[in-house]
Amino acid sequence: MKTRLPVRKAILRRKTYEAPAEGRLNKMRLDFNENTSGCGPAALRALRKLTPQQLAMYPEYGKPTRRIAAYFGVSEHELLLTNGGDDALRVFFDAFVEPRNHILICEPTFPMYRYYAEIAGARVETLRYGAEMEFPLDDFVSALRKKPAVIFIANPNNPTGALLPRAAIKRVLLAASNTVVVIDEAYAEFSGVTVLPWIRKYPNLFVTRTFSKAAGLAGLRLGAAMACRESIALLRRAMPPFPVNVGALVAAEAALQERSSIQSYVKQMREIRQWFAGELARLGVRTFPSAGNFLLADFGSPGPALFKKLATQGILVRERSKDIGPGFVRISIGTGPEMKQLVKMIQRELGSNQKANQKATRPTSQRGRN
Ligand SMILES: Cc1ncc(COP(=O)(O)O)c(C=O)c1O
Repeated sequence: MKTRLPVRKAILRRKTYEAPAEGRLNKMRLDFNENTSGCGPAALRALRKLTPQQLAMYPEYGKPTRRIAAYFGVSEHELLLTNGGDDALRVFFDAFVEPRNHILICEPTFPMYRYYAEIAGARVETLRYGAEMEFPLDDFVSALRKKPAVIFIANPNNPTGALLPRAAIKRVLLAASNTVVVIDEAYAEFSGVTVLPWIRKYPNLFVTRTFSKAAGLAGLRLGAAMACRESIALLRRAMPPFPVNVGALVAAEAALQERSSIQSYVKQMREIRQWFAGELARLGVRTFPSAGNFLLADFGSPGPALFKKLATQGILVRERSKDIGPGFVRISIGTGPEMKQLVKMIQRELGSNQKANQKATRPTSQRGRN
């Protein structure tokens, strides 16, 4: 791109982010790991009660911060509210990463770690998950010797669904005393595993969360970063004064008062995920163990055509042919009826594909003359 503006080199090197296709509202949205049931009624009621005065004011953070901190079991001084989990990730670059530094990640993973590193002009050291989507713990610990400024581990990982046990995270923390360790727990409600209680023991540990997944508030953009008081104070210095809007605050407070609805949603998602993995196995499709509200599956060579066909039927899934392998896809777990409809479609498409293949490979003598 040619410009006379004093643009930074890191920005010139980047490609513009291509936003995903719009018009998803009335489709089966199994492509963004959203809550497809919608948020709970309490959040919606709280939004409806907002007054013109509240909307005209800059938000006040004291009470909502205390309530949200209590939900996570931390103090208000150990919590930073952010404009979505994405923004919680961005602030680590502003606070801890100089352009000459590098970060360490293990791919495939959530793309925003690389995205923000590129904007910051930082290098990205990358390891790969194994063929079974296992985390390369020994190599990761060895790579810490090069002293990355920040490491990001999504736990469970997106898109693999892999869950790193707490003992493994402890090993990383012990080996990374000069590095900021970010454990991104966007899907912790579904995995039931967190290292949040450790923030007082390890000053380099930061845990990020989001209200976009289990709480179903992706449209409002609310996330959080948590660490010990002194470490959060460092992040806070890199934040703007009003990062979170009033709608997100009142909706989150209301959602947390209705915790049982989040819990029953999570329970349902886990059951549907297990059922869906079983259905895919029955259809001969390989899946990987997932602790999130999504499943990584390998459809092999029929995959790309199948995903296109699903899209024409209004079923959106996230194809990963380019970065993981041909026919790989990440499918978010939707409601029971949504997943049943999806299984029916997959069955129909794979069946007709198989028939076509059988026809094509039948010996010539059995084929029709014409
Ligand atoms: C691993 C992980 N971290 C963070 C996020 C950010 O979520 P949000 O910005 O909606 O809070 C996502 C969203 O998909 C995610 O998968």
